[in-house]
Amino acid sequence: MSTKSDYPKGREELRKALATCRKHFRSVGLFSVFVNLLMLTGPLFMLQVYDRVLASRSMPTLVALLVLITGLFIVMGLLEYIRARVLARAGARFQAALDFRVFDAVLRRSVAPEERARPNTAASDLDSLRQLLSGPAPFAIFDMPWTPFFLAIIFIFHWTLGLLAIFGGIVLVTMAFLNDARSRKHQTEAQIAAAQAANLGEALRHEAESVHGLGMRNVGLARWQKLRNDALEAQITAQDRSGAFSSASKTTRFYLQSAMLAAGAALVVQGLVTPGVMIASSILMGRALAPMEQGIAQWGLAQRALRGWKQLSELLEKTPVEPQKTALPRPKGFVEVQNVTVVAPGEQVPTLRQVSFKVSPGEALGVIGPSGSGKTTLAKVLVGIWTPAAGKIRIDGAALDQWPSDVLGRHIGYLPQDVGLFSGSIASNVARLDPEPEDAKIVEAAQRAGAHELLLALPQGYDTDVGSAGSRISGGQRQRVALARALYGDPAVLILDEPNANLDATGEQALVNAIVGAKERGKTVIVMAHRPSAIAACDTLLMLDRGNVVDFGPRDEVLKKRTRNYPQLVAASGAVNTPGAAGMAGGAQGDGQAAPPQAGAPQPGGQQAAPQPPAPQQPGAAKPAAQAPRPAAQPAAQQAAGGQPAAAQGFPPGVPRGALTGAGSAVRNGAKGAPTPKGGNDQKVR
Ligand SMILES: Nc1ncnc2c1ncn2[C@@H]1O[C@H](COP(=O)(O)OP(=O)(O)OP(=O)(O)O)[C@@H](O)[C@H]1O
Ligand SMILES: [Mg+2]
Repeated sequence: MSTKSDYPKGREELRKALATCRKHFRSVGLFSVFVNLLMLTGPLFMLQVYDRVLASRSMPTLVALLVLITGLFIVMGLLEYIRARVLARAGARFQAALDFRVFDAVLRRSVAPEERARPNTAASDLDSLRQLLSGPAPFAIFDMPWTPFFLAIIFIFHWTLGLLAIFGGIVLVTMAFLNDARSRKHQTEAQIAAAQAANLGEALRHEAESVHGLGMRNVGLARWQKLRNDALEAQITAQDRSGAFSSASKTTRFYLQSAMLAAGAALVVQGLVTPGVMIASSILMGRALAPMEQGIAQWGLAQRALRGWKQLSELLEKTPVEPQKTALPRPKGFVEVQNVTVVAPGEQVPTLRQVSFKVSPGEALGVIGPSGSGKTTLAKVLVGIWTPAAGKIRIDGAALDQWPSDVLGRHIGYLPQDVGLFSGSIASNVARLDPEPEDAKIVEAAQRAGAHELLLALPQGYDTDVGSAGSRISGGQRQRVALARALYGDPAVLILDEPNANLDATGEQALVNAIVGAKERGKTVIVMAHRPSAIAACDTLLMLDRGNVVDFGPRDEVLKKRTRNYPQLVAASGAVNTPGAAGMAGGAQGDGQAAPPQAGAPQPGGQQAAPQPPAPQQPGAAKPAAQAPRPAAQPAAQQAAGGQPAAAQGFPPGVPRGALTGAGSAVRNGAKGAPTPKGGNDQKVR
């Protein structure tokens, strides 16, 4: 467990939040003075009744005393009520002062995958702190200083009674500490196991479809139940132990009261004190020990709150407030990446090394490379989700860290590889959850994404509820909504990570049109792609392999170079298909090694035709183009693109190929707003 001095800055922040309730605590302190003074009403009344009223048998005295204490008790009740209300507000204020900051820190920290995997206890930590602050615990603290005062009065009555009261106090405090020592470990275990079970339960629920589809329900449930049982076991052990102590301390307190009465009676018998003193000291002892008792009752909550305090200190210290940054003008979209090296959070080995390039407004850059080559990693650093370990990324000359992150987010349209939508309408998703979105901007974004008609065709159009995480619409629809979301507000830079992974022919065409449109409006587009159509509209290509830049340059140049490289790799793989089938079948050939140049057949658009890919790994993954019927007038390059089944259209590692020429045709078509080329997309569906 962390020691007190581990996170001084985080602690300081929590203290500051606590200081916002200082006024409340001061008034509670003041009320407590009067409440505790008024606590003397009962014992004093008892003293008077026993020693005066009973001795003098005077009814008028009794009535006068009764009237007096009625008033005093009413005042005491009111003060108790007010201080409880003030404390409840102090707790709420403390929570409100931290809620935003804490959840913001949680969100920022959750960018690291291993943090997302950990149970998120921040909200419950804050809750337990609020409960502690607004519950009976502060009363115990405010009442505690009065304990010596009450003990002193008992001492004044008689030292024997005073000693007995002190002894009682020591016994109760010792029990509280023993309770803590014996149950803390189990309580922590119970909490950890319960949080893990909740986390696993949430993950299983989230992946319910895979769990059902893969027959993992029983295994998942068994895992979950084990954690729940562990939590229960630890909880029961902790409760048994603390239950034993709390019963013991309660009984001890009752016993002490009787013992006090017995001691008082003995003193009365000896004529050392009056019967009134006997009763009053018994009541006063109850009052003196009450804060301890309250403290013991609140011990569990206090422990949780203390743990919460430490955890929150750590969270706040490790995720400091973003410093105020000067507002920069809306960028034009000059993106400059300078020697960027990226190490994924929690890892040691870089996933991207020394990457440099520039993209100007009106240009589109395609980033290609095999799986795991670092395309998504590059997208993540470009949008500021991850921070480069070395190097700089600048937008209009300003390094990413000079932009306030939310402002930066508005200037960047990001389409992540795994599209996640929020439950709610499509419109609210496109508007990035803007509470006061402009409908015109939503429609404009959808139109630019080529998704307007698609959305209108849905049952409730733009107001269709996408369901939890967008589960009520299809994968392709989600991706198109996400493209519209990226285009919302017409950001200066578009980062699209595999934007066509789930798209059909129409969707791919819409994507190409959207990229071309963005370029025409002077936006900067960076597309990470596996499948060719996405880079159809790109001017330059950056090729990655295992985190290194393998090639960078004008698209056609890079393609030519890589295409020449291809046949040798094909030969090495020992499998050759008929010409025209050049799709993007992945294979083992992708090591990006140099190969002797070899020109392919010239294609329309001046690009090199792709030689065949190696025989696909899966049967039927790459049909020879000749087998696929297609319109006679179709350009060969499109045939090349189209001859490939959708599943096979990935760039082989190090070798993007001939379908790109087809993609090039698509660009041209797209730029002119021509209808979807039948070649590539139609054929692909087959
Ligand atoms: N959160 C992470 N923590 C650790 N390593 C990661 C993390 N994310 C990615 N990596 C590693 O970084 C490398 C690049 O991953 P990245 O997702 O960038 O690949 P990619 O080119 O986008 O692949 P794909 O085409 O399959 O999407 C991979 O080797 C992967 O294991
Ligand atoms: Mg990726």
